[in-house]
Amino acid sequence: MEQEQVIAATENFVRQTLLGEGSGHDWHHIERVTTTAKKLAVKEGANLFVVTLAALLHDLADDKVVESEEEGLRIIRNWLLDHQVSDADQEHILAIITHMSFKGGNGKSLETIEGLVVQDADRLDAIGAVGIARCFTYAGKKGQPIYQPDLPVRDEMSVAEYRHGRSSAIHHFYEKLLKLKELMNTSSGYRMAEKRHQLMEMYLDAFFEEIGEQRR
Ligand code: ADP
Ligand code: NI
Repeated sequence: MEQEQVIAATENFVRQTLLGEGSGHDWHHIERVTTTAKKLAVKEGANLFVVTLAALLHDLADDKVVESEEEGLRIIRNWLLDHQVSDADQEHILAIITHMSFKGGNGKSLETIEGLVVQDADRLDAIGAVGIARCFTYAGKKGQPIYQPDLPVRDEMSVAEYRHGRSSAIHHFYEKLLKLKELMNTSSGYRMAEKRHQLMEMYLDAFFEEIGEQRR
C-alpha cells in the first residue's frame, strides 16, 4: 500500500474513533498535533511517514480513550500490520506511542528525532491559546473551578488533593503548562513554545489584575 493511502486510511480510522471524545483527546487535538508534528518534522529532518502515523495514533493507547494501554497498543499494532507498514516503522511508531502514553514515567525513553518531534507537537497543543482553552475545558469537565484562591500551588506529582479535584484551571498552569517550554526537545519546537508561553504569561497577568490579587 502507498504511504499516502496508509495515512489517509489512518486519518479516517482515528477520526471515527475519537470524534466526540470528551477528555481533551478529540479528533481536533489529533489533527492539530499532526499538523504541527509534520511542520517540525520538515524543519528537523525527521521521517515524515513515521512522524505522521505516530502523531495520528498517539492518543489511541491512552487509558482515557481505551480500556488499557495494552489494549490500545494491540489495536495500533494490528492496524499497522493490516496496512503493511514495514516491521521497522511499526516498531518505531509503537515505541514513540508507548513512550508518550507512559509519560516517560516507566523508565522507557525514546530519543529518535521522530519521537522528539511528536512529543513536542503534543506539548505545544497544551500551551498557548489552544492550551488555555483545553485547560479550562478539562477543568470544567472535572468540575473544577476556574480558580481557587485559598489553594497553594504545588508540584503536580505530589498533589493528592489534585487527584481529588482540589485544584483549579489556573493552578494547572503552575502545575504543568508553564513548565512545558523548558521541556521542549527540538529547537524549532522551543521557538514555537516561546511565543505560546509568552501568551500564557500575559494571560495570567491579566487574570490576576482583573481579580485584584497579586500575580502568583
Ligand atoms: P495529552 O495526553 O494530550 O498530553 P492530557 O491527557 O495530559 O493531554 O490532558 C489533556 C488536556 O487537558 C491538556 O491540554 C492538559 O493540559 C489538560 N489538563 C490535564 N489535566 C488537567 C487539570 N488537572 N486541570 C486542567 N487541565 C488539565
Ligand atoms: Ni495528545
